[in-house]
Amino acid sequence: MCGIVGAVAQRNVVPILIEGLRKLEYRGYDSAGIALNDGDIRRVRAVGRVADLQARADGERVEAPTGIAHTRWATHGGVNEINAHPHASVTDAASISVVHNGIIENHESLRQQLIAEGYNFESQTDTEVIAHLLHRLVSQGHSLFDAVKHAVRELEGAYAIAAISRAEPGTVVGSRCGAPLLLGVGNDGRGDRENFLASDTSALLQVTRHVAYLEEGDVVEIRADGYRIVDSSGAQAIRPVILSQLSADSIELGRYAHYMQKEIFEQPGAIANTLEMLLGASSVEPGLFGADARPILSRAQQVLILACGTSYHAGCVARYWLESIAGIQTTVEIASEYRYRDSVALENTLVITISQSGETADTLAALAHAAAQGLTDTLTLCNVPESALIRASKLRFLTRAGPEIGVASTKAFTTQLAALFVLTLVLAKLRGRLSAERERELIAQLRHLPAAMNRVLECEPAVRDWAARFAARQHALFLGRGVHFPIALEGALKLKEITYIHAEAYAAGELKHGPLALVDDQMPVVAIAPNDALIEKLKSNLQEVRARGGELFVFADRDTRISAGDGVHVINLGDHAGALSPILHVVPLQLLAYHAALARGTDVDKPRNLAKSVTVE
Ligand code: M6R
Repeated sequence: MCGIVGAVAQRNVVPILIEGLRKLEYRGYDSAGIALNDGDIRRVRAVGRVADLQARADGERVEAPTGIAHTRWATHGGVNEINAHPHASVTDAASISVVHNGIIENHESLRQQLIAEGYNFESQTDTEVIAHLLHRLVSQGHSLFDAVKHAVRELEGAYAIAAISRAEPGTVVGSRCGAPLLLGVGNDGRGDRENFLASDTSALLQVTRHVAYLEEGDVVEIRADGYRIVDSSGAQAIRPVILSQLSADSIELGRYAHYMQKEIFEQPGAIANTLEMLLGASSVEPGLFGADARPILSRAQQVLILACGTSYHAGCVARYWLESIAGIQTTVEIASEYRYRDSVALENTLVITISQSGETADTLAALAHAAAQGLTDTLTLCNVPESALIRASKLRFLTRAGPEIGVASTKAFTTQLAALFVLTLVLAKLRGRLSAERERELIAQLRHLPAAMNRVLECEPAVRDWAARFAARQHALFLGRGVHFPIALEGALKLKEITYIHAEAYAAGELKHGPLALVDDQMPVVAIAPNDALIEKLKSNLQEVRARGGELFVFADRDTRISAGDGVHVINLGDHAGALSPILHVVPLQLLAYHAALARGTDVDKPRNLAKSVTVE
């Protein structure tokens, strides 16, 4: 959601700001804007894509060495130019412009207070209160840095902000609390220093790989020749500048048409990277989850998994593994439900949060809710180092999927599953449920996963043919049983997310308890058919569908003896992969959604109404 870029240099920063916004497009947005300070403040805003903003900026020939930029995903107020950021507060006494990511929860009372003082609001956004608060302070004589320090004390909610003031042409000031913001330290290649702010590193790779992660409550001032940071108490703070390992290549499309396609095909490599520590290993150790992991994992008597969307589905798969392999009772909760539910907190519960971004507001709040109930043994599985969730948890495991740009999560999901399987083995071992021989066997299966996935990816041409049939449909049903039921949920989510086809997933055994009523010759039914203990049960369910005229699309393991025929289409995925089968079976469902979206002509990587990083409730 919303992306921020800020820059101060000794050259024109407009191309840097626009390119930074382009790299943040994946987060999801519906309008974009820049504000520049060249002694006066100029704003350029546009509804639509960054390309539309660029066209306007080119048309107006704007240039300046200092500026802020923003992509907005509408929360307060509709999608229009007036609500687009940057927002401004302008009088003869002061002129301020600000961009903001997050939600200011007390914006209504601040707005009333500011209106009473004579401020006019032009937008419906919560952000505009920040512009006026800063204006009030700057016109009272505060520097922009001091004004931000004071203003953030009045804000409740989550935010990352960046602001400029007419009175300080070479300065941008930012602050973060509950939403990401990092500092970039660079030079322009001719010996001139320059500094930047951004929501994530990808926006800055064009200019620097030297970044520092800001902490909650930090306020930072950047100038071309340096920067200063204070923490939430106002004390000077030093945040280590690290060399980001993110490579520019990892966020380029290369030979692929879309990021989603690239990310689907990157899965074997992403899983291999995530499991790198198992190379040559014959055992798994608690230390993989952090230095303090052994005592925390050893005392766990049950597991509570909190997550949203695709990450929630990863948790649902893990429940089957944790209960059957590690013998530990496991509950999986949708974070947005758990955070408001009066639940019973059991002692010695291991709380696991799963998140691609590590910034999901509901998951963060659910983790805080668990902690408030006394559940402080926490582990986060995440793809983003230094994210809020990682910092809020005692234990951590970083999936090494690389940046995931497509809004529809693919490689983040399969690497989460790989990590959850490793966790299952560690817990099983600590609980005396894993013999050394079985451990070696399962580790060998994990190591084989990338190769097995490469073979599954070969089904793409066949899936593409099926996708053409789906493109014309309005509805679809996904069926799975056991550990593959959450995979059916994930397949349906992928399809609806990027094709806008209404898709539902059911545990196949539930069919005759209601959803069978939906089945007729207009209803395509996708079935996940691994050759496991439930295959005969699943086949009976598929007969029920066929008997009502439903057209079946079955992803089957070899030896399931499900044959293609009238109204039954089958793609063979190879040998059954045992416990790891769900990690393979999700791949053709991702491909199906991708190709159906292509056939329908939707915006695959940036589906309507959705954001990559859901930093608001
Ligand atoms: O960053 P997170 O994993 O916490 O995000 C959770 C969901 O918002 C995310 O998985 C969402 O459902 C994806 N768009 C699914 O493809």
